Amino acid sequence: IAKIKGGPTEGLDEVGENLVVEGWVRTLRVQSSITFIEVNDGSCLSNMQCVMDSEAEGYNLVESGLITTGASIWVQGILVKSQGSKQKVELKVKKIVLVGKSDPSFPMQKKRASKEFLRTKAHLRPRTNTFSAVARVRNALAYATHKFFQENGFVWVSSPIITASDCEGAGEQFCVTTLIPSSREAVDSPVDTIPKMNDRFIDWSQDFFGKPAFLTVSGQLNAETYATALSDVYTFGPTFRAENSNTSRHLAEFWMIEPELAFADLNDDMACATAYLQYVVRYVLDYCKEDMDFFNTWIEKGIIDRLNDVADKDFVQITYTEAIDLILRANKKFEYQVKWGCDLQSEHERYITEEAFGGCPVIIRDYPKDIKAFYMRQNDDGKTVAAMDMLVPRVGELIGGSQREERLEYLEARLEELKLNKDAYWWYLDLRRYGSVPHAGFGLGFERLVQFVTGMDNIRDVIPFPRTPDSAEF
Ligand code: 4AD
Ligand code: MG
Repeated sequence: IAKIKGGPTEGLDEVGENLVVEGWVRTLRVQSSITFIEVNDGSCLSNMQCVMDSEAEGYNLVESGLITTGASIWVQGILVKSQGSKQKVELKVKKIVLVGKSDPSFPMQKKRASKEFLRTKAHLRPRTNTFSAVARVRNALAYATHKFFQENGFVWVSSPIITASDCEGAGEQFCVTTLIPSSREAVDSPVDTIPKMNDRFIDWSQDFFGKPAFLTVSGQLNAETYATALSDVYTFGPTFRAENSNTSRHLAEFWMIEPELAFADLNDDMACATAYLQYVVRYVLDYCKEDMDFFNTWIEKGIIDRLNDVADKDFVQITYTEAIDLILRANKKFEYQVKWGCDLQSEHERYITEEAFGGCPVIIRDYPKDIKAFYMRQNDDGKTVAAMDMLVPRVGELIGGSQREERLEYLEARLEELKLNKDAYWWYLDLRRYGSVPHAGFGLGFERLVQFVTGMDNIRDVIPFPRTPDSAEF
């Protein structure tokens, strides 16, 4: 007997076949002598409609009320043409087995539970249409990411999670230490009894690594060491930021994709970012049709057309100076005023991509050096660096990247200017000492990409287990 995955999808209309379906009951309804069970195994959105009469083996399970929403079942039957309009085919059940019953308290019964409610049920929310669709599209985006870089000759490098360096220099790192009681004690004891850590009491030499250690905010510096040996590389892994921003675009733990291109400048970097985004968007439109139709209908109307444009049309490129001009000339009141030299707030970013350029992704380049990280290459004007951010509608900043400062003397001068400890960067400086090359790269926040492609409003709803200051459910 063929075992099939999923419900009646486009290609599946082998009427007459003897099949097995395993999955979870979404709904059960009885219509005179016929029982309809909608079963879903997570492989696609559509349920397999299982139609049963009292002849079927195991019918007593239905009679005794054991087949309820949430229960897991094994069903065997014949695929037949469906009488209903919602599906082409359905399973005429010969035998049903209850694999695991579901307690009546199963919380996913209600059709339109709020996303806030579902966040408190992170372990069960993948049983809903929205969250299973997000999980499949997220998976497709990860697959397409590897496919894109592998097909273009990039080598995947695993960057470390525990590190001593703060790549972005924003002081937003989580500390990793063994100087507090064991995790068991810490979790079990009331908060007040855990020794407070402050500067006076920390003797880092007594700690696990003999010095402070942190969770990485970015794998870039490590990627650079491999790019200056293997040429083009990319990382794809978890990164952590202790930013106390409770927004719909920030997580404390998020995944980042960081390509690093050797023998490349900012133009190559922007071209790579554009080609990458267009590739993964096209991939999802081609291979996640059912899920994308769902998002188009229920989450963001018109998202498919919008993504088709992204995949086909050129992106806008402007300089930071031009962006500031645009904002100053906008016939619109912003909460924050801008002037040359300041960081753009999300209201400005959204204005630029959503209004000034009508929903097209916009790349802004050549930012003032004072608002960007130490490693970015200085432009000849002495005021700006070869940085670029890609902004997309609704999400704002999707990508941040730059050409790296490959000239040893410039980099050393910049570290001094910023009063950074040069000794801590000895290995990074070595890369400029031994066969330095122009190189460039970018970081793309994977969850922001999933938001952009699905239309989901809140970043907490596009990662299986969100970690934010307000998520205490772990
Ligand atoms: O702009 P960022 O800080 O750049 C870097 O970390 C560079 N080292 C990247 C590189 O050049 N290799 O972060 C890159 C991207 C942002 O554009 C954003 O999409 C995402 O990471 N990001 C976050 N996503 C979710 N939650 C957060 N707290 C994020 N912070 C950054
Ligand atoms: Mg950034």
